[in-house]
Amino acid sequence: MSERLYIFDTTLRDGEQSPGASMTRDEKIRIARQLEKLGVDIIEAGFAAASPGDAESIHAIAEAIKESTICSLARANERDIRAAGEAIKPAARGRIHTFIATSPIHMEKKLRMQPDQVVEAAVAAVKLARQYTDDVEFSAEDALRSEPEFLCRIFDAVIQAGARTINVPDTVGYAVPHLTTEFFRKLIEGTPNSDQVIWSAHCHNDLGMAVANSLAAVMGGARQVECTINGLGERAGNAALEEIVMAVRTRCDVFDLETRIDTTQIVPASKLISSITGYPVQPNKAVVGANAFAHESGIHQDGVLKHRETYEIMSAESVGWSQNKLTLGKLSGRNAFRTRLQELGMLPEGEEALNAAFARFKELADKKREIFDEDLRALLGDSGPDATERYRLISLKVVSETGEQPTANLVMGALGEEHRVVAHGAGPVDAVFKAIESVAQSGADLLLYSVNAVTAGTDSQAEVTVRLSLDDMVVNGQGADIDVLVASTEAYISALNRLTTEAGRAHPQA
Ligand code: KIV
Ligand code: ZN
Repeated sequence: MSERLYIFDTTLRDGEQSPGASMTRDEKIRIARQLEKLGVDIIEAGFAAASPGDAESIHAIAEAIKESTICSLARANERDIRAAGEAIKPAARGRIHTFIATSPIHMEKKLRMQPDQVVEAAVAAVKLARQYTDDVEFSAEDALRSEPEFLCRIFDAVIQAGARTINVPDTVGYAVPHLTTEFFRKLIEGTPNSDQVIWSAHCHNDLGMAVANSLAAVMGGARQVECTINGLGERAGNAALEEIVMAVRTRCDVFDLETRIDTTQIVPASKLISSITGYPVQPNKAVVGANAFAHESGIHQDGVLKHRETYEIMSAESVGWSQNKLTLGKLSGRNAFRTRLQELGMLPEGEEALNAAFARFKELADKKREIFDEDLRALLGDSGPDATERYRLISLKVVSETGEQPTANLVMGALGEEHRVVAHGAGPVDAVFKAIESVAQSGADLLLYSVNAVTAGTDSQAEVTVRLSLDDMVVNGQGADIDVLVASTEAYISALNRLTTEAGRAHPQA
């Protein structure tokens, strides 16, 4: 039997550090459930000390998830470790991941600490973390720019203090594959009791080599890889989970390692993350891009038709691409709806949520004859109007005519009051957004407006993402509807509601 490669997913922590990718507690729980279904070994659910909201989300995920280990990040100080320890308490298996920087530049310029003090802080952090859980991971931040001798020294000390996993992050994406293999070999050889721990890689993609470096680390002895769905993450992102898993599986002749990942859950996970964060997946992205299995050239098409493996090294089905499946229609009942959601792993919690989703499904089925799995995903992703929110869409009429300026007539609820406004714009979307702003007067900047057709055909639902920024807050809003203008309005209003919630968190008395 092949040796195991552990998959540590940090979409909810490092992934959330992408600008505008912040997620609500409920979104994080939905993602965690999908990651559990995907079979990731460890879910880094957040950074408990970062905010009470983060701690709450980790706690809720620790309660909900049974199959994966739930982890919280913590700097090497008492406050962070205690916050992480409390947050992971309900987990069936909980991990504390503590870190401190070890490169000369970080120790001197950022921490302003001597190497001895860094070792001392790391040991104290690991010892304290062990009071909460046996499963403690230690990371040497900026390890790939650290002195290997110093790393061996600090790793020896934290292993003695009780760390079970040693993570070697390429924090700034500086590494080069063949040197990374050597680096890992050197550390594993030079650290006493290195066989008592799992060695882990955590690579960033600043030079586009995060996946290559992670795989190189595996060649050098790493048996845990930290990665994110779609490669989401700080700056240029982290190593993409789907690429690592499929590389190890497709080239088992090279790696001879096994993961616990159910690869058919990769595409659903990718779509979920993309729709929640508003980060689109580029069409030519490996494994999860829309063109990853599309053959354009006649020669390739001919080859694939004769024998798939002539031009495909893995099958689209093996990573969860399915032909858009016609699932339900106008006459489908609540039971059929419920059963299909269950099969897709998207059953909402509680009868009330199911009834609300069923009502939205019926509304959609009235407008669209054929309902596909993708429609259900969009429908479940869009929770519909919420009367408890500050702003809500009541009705919209848009007039767009050749040679005339488009006009939006909007009826919108704001703080319980109904507002009727008319606005003109360069285009119909511009007119709608101006109408909303004439009521909300948020002063926010529009950073992103993106539209994605959920299925093929002109009767597809449009899934719209709007990203707004105000002061130092960046939020995303989503909307899905068969009418692209309604979807756009919902997305903008949802982003405004999030801005209000975020502002309330930042200034609770306001
Ligand atoms: O990139 C990094 O160094 C990190 C650590 C906190 C593991 O994300
Ligand atoms: Zn990182």
